[in-house]
Amino acid sequence: MDKKTLLSGVKPTGQPHLGNYFGMMKPCIEMQHDYFSYLFIPDLHALMSVQNGPEMRDLILNLAIDYLGAGLDPEHTILFKQSDVPQHPELTWIFDTITTMPYLMRAHAFKDAEAKNKEITVGVFNYPMLMAADILLYDTDVVPVGQDQKQHVEFARDTALKFNNIYSETFKLPEAIIQEAVAVVPGTDGQKMSKSYKNTIPLFGSREEIQKAVMGIVTDSSGGRPKNVHAIHRLFKSEAELEPIYTQNEGNYKVLKEALAEDIDAFIAPLRERRESFAAQPEKVKEIIREGGDRAREVAEAKMKDVRQKIGVTL
Ligand code: AMP
Ligand code: TRP
Repeated sequence: MDKKTLLSGVKPTGQPHLGNYFGMMKPCIEMQHDYFSYLFIPDLHALMSVQNGPEMRDLILNLAIDYLGAGLDPEHTILFKQSDVPQHPELTWIFDTITTMPYLMRAHAFKDAEAKNKEITVGVFNYPMLMAADILLYDTDVVPVGQDQKQHVEFARDTALKFNNIYSETFKLPEAIIQEAVAVVPGTDGQKMSKSYKNTIPLFGSREEIQKAVMGIVTDSSGGRPKNVHAIHRLFKSEAELEPIYTQNEGNYKVLKEALAEDIDAFIAPLRERRESFAAQPEKVKEIIREGGDRAREVAEAKMKDVRQKIGVTL
């Protein structure tokens, strides 16, 4: 009964990759039974980059199937999509009224966009406030994420404190959980694996797609050990297991890459199989999302009743 609450999400903006899986999905799934868990689909956040209805629909359904394939237990974890819970944008607006522009201008995502002279939408600027609402509506204790989301969770904490100071104790202060070993999963070029760097290995790729991505890992010919291959291999085998393989095959990058592709494929095969079983039942998946939305709305509405009361808009 006194279980703590866990919440996290991945934007439905494309195929999840090994960085998403090891950085966020796997930790959440491993922890799901020890917590009261919410794994959600921040589709309103994804509107910053997906602006095509049919494509969005497809991405949402596929991400739900990916979560289930990766091991989300729908009997236990609440899987829902953000847009099914209008309390998220409602609370965002209230947070906007207690947040200053200079404060949001410190966000890494905003600063990056500005440094690149990109046109910045109000949505991108306000992104951290929607994320704060996502987290705070559910009295979340822990938010398992990759390193890149640390600042966003800090913004949620700051915002909770600010609201509590103005209107009295209302929101719990959440904490990011970042597993050091997978805080930044490297991509095929050694940089952080990221959709925007085109250096990803897809989580649910076919054997051929995985092989192709692995063969494309950037290797420099100076040392006997291909650093970027080894860095990804560490996700699948311990150093003790890798040591003899890399010693025996020093300089033989092709063999080492083949060994890595084999290990990734063996790891993913059972997940892929489970994914396929859900993919064959889209109506069942939609039902899981609908039910999750109903349960999430109930919790979010109870919180919003308290918030509306405190800010004085209820008569
Ligand atoms: P995104 O794809 O940006 O929506 O990220 C979804 C989740 O995956 C977030 O918690 C990220 O921190 C995490 N993530 C994305 N890329 C990586 C990576 N290369 N290493 C570790 N975690 C990651
Ligand atoms: N911003 C997160 C990302 O890009 C996605 C996200 C939105 C999220 N709301 C959240 C993650 C709440 C954790 C908790 O990965």
